[in-house]
Amino acid sequence: MSRSAHPAGPRHADVLTEGHYSAPPADLNALDGKVWARTVERGADGVVTVGGLPVTRLAEEFGTPAYILDESDFRARARAWRDAFGADADVFYAGKAFLSRAVVRWLHEEGLNLDVCSGGELTTALAAGMPAGRIAFHGNNKSAHEIERAVAAGVGRIVLDSFQEIVRVAHIADRLGVRQRVQIRVTVGVEAHTHEFIATAHEDQKFGIALAGGQAAEAVRRALKLDGLELIGIHSHIGSQIFDMAGFEVAARRVVGLLAEVRDEHGVELPEIDLGGGLGIAYTSDDDPAEPHEIARALREIVGRECASAGLRTPRISVEPGRAIAGPTAFTLYEVGTVKPLDGLRTYVSVDGGMSDNIRTALYDAEYSVALVSRTSDAEPLLVRVVGKHCESGDIVVRDAFLPADLAPGDLIAVPATGAYCRSMASNYNHVPRPPVVAVQDGSARVIVRRETEEDLLALDVG
Ligand code: LLP
Repeated sequence: MSRSAHPAGPRHADVLTEGHYSAPPADLNALDGKVWARTVERGADGVVTVGGLPVTRLAEEFGTPAYILDESDFRARARAWRDAFGADADVFYAGKAFLSRAVVRWLHEEGLNLDVCSGGELTTALAAGMPAGRIAFHGNNKSAHEIERAVAAGVGRIVLDSFQEIVRVAHIADRLGVRQRVQIRVTVGVEAHTHEFIATAHEDQKFGIALAGGQAAEAVRRALKLDGLELIGIHSHIGSQIFDMAGFEVAARRVVGLLAEVRDEHGVELPEIDLGGGLGIAYTSDDDPAEPHEIARALREIVGRECASAGLRTPRISVEPGRAIAGPTAFTLYEVGTVKPLDGLRTYVSVDGGMSDNIRTALYDAEYSVALVSRTSDAEPLLVRVVGKHCESGDIVVRDAFLPADLAPGDLIAVPATGAYCRSMASNYNHVPRPPVVAVQDGSARVIVRRETEEDLLALDVG
């Protein structure tokens, strides 16, 4: 089991006594390809490059902190998912991981669909030209206005999350004179092995309608009766940052069980199932994620087997990877501001960002890697905690890591695997403006989300 799938031990365990990262890596200058975007490498002069551009130049041109995104890696991962699932399945990129107009265009060009979960994500998707028919609209409390916009735009599917919403969407579709394609999101009762806040298939949480107790079967019954709805299938999303396929296996078995019940009761074989997202990525060298083709093979095999034994035609499968596409493609580039050794404890390295650009460490005990990227060093490894500039002690970017002992203010360090759920969960805490996203490809770099400015903050403050 991966470490970052299973946050370790007490939140503020002393790493020296717990032995969490007890052994420094053999070579601090080496970059593990598992956690860095594909075109990242260290140049002969010791400076790390991405897409052929040295990080020192990127820092000069765009400032720090900045999310640096490897566009060719993003596109390659999107393609790998699309190719792995092939023409008889659909891949919906989960926009919540990271969404911008450029990203929508890349996804469109690479033949993926898009999962959005708010009016804001829907607006971005449509503004960037994603055909509405390739958009799935999610959320456990979509407003009537959001539903209306989605139906009017002609989204390919709305994923229904509650009994109230079944009626709400049907009314709006009736009013607009359309038949809206929908799926029903069910909770299958699986305990995904991940952090509690990102596990979503156990019954005691806010998403979906429980299979247990016949609730989901009742939801299907109601949806099938409503003219405004075309029920195309069942949706299950069991959680996030998952490495173990066992949870998907149980989910698929239970969803197929519902399809069989629906066939028996209504004589209808629902044509689609969506198994959600949630596939884990490598945040540290200890994580070993599966490749998209392995995941596709496993999911097809599970669904095929379960359908065969229930005597059902195999439905069209869809999946919704977010992190697995966006996560590995970006790193956050920071400048070191202070280095503070605390006798007998550890050394605190403060960077020019923090919990406002990466809340995941504070929120989920997430683990990250970090490297000195503006030069190499032969100094001894020093156990450090990388912290931000915010006014609280929980403002930790990397809890425990080794950096060279000669690390000094002005050095650039980078935290890999920050392409998912970092910019998208960024805040203005302490009125720190959010960093830009810079896309790099083949020796050129361009800003795809600009840096927020203090003027932006004042512009919202109209008092
Ligand atoms: N589909 C649905 C219905 C979802 O709710 C999610 C994620 C996904 C797909 C994509 O999951 P992914 O493949 O990216 O794991 N903020 C948390 C993650 C929350 C995920 C919420 N839903 C984090 O930073 O780890």
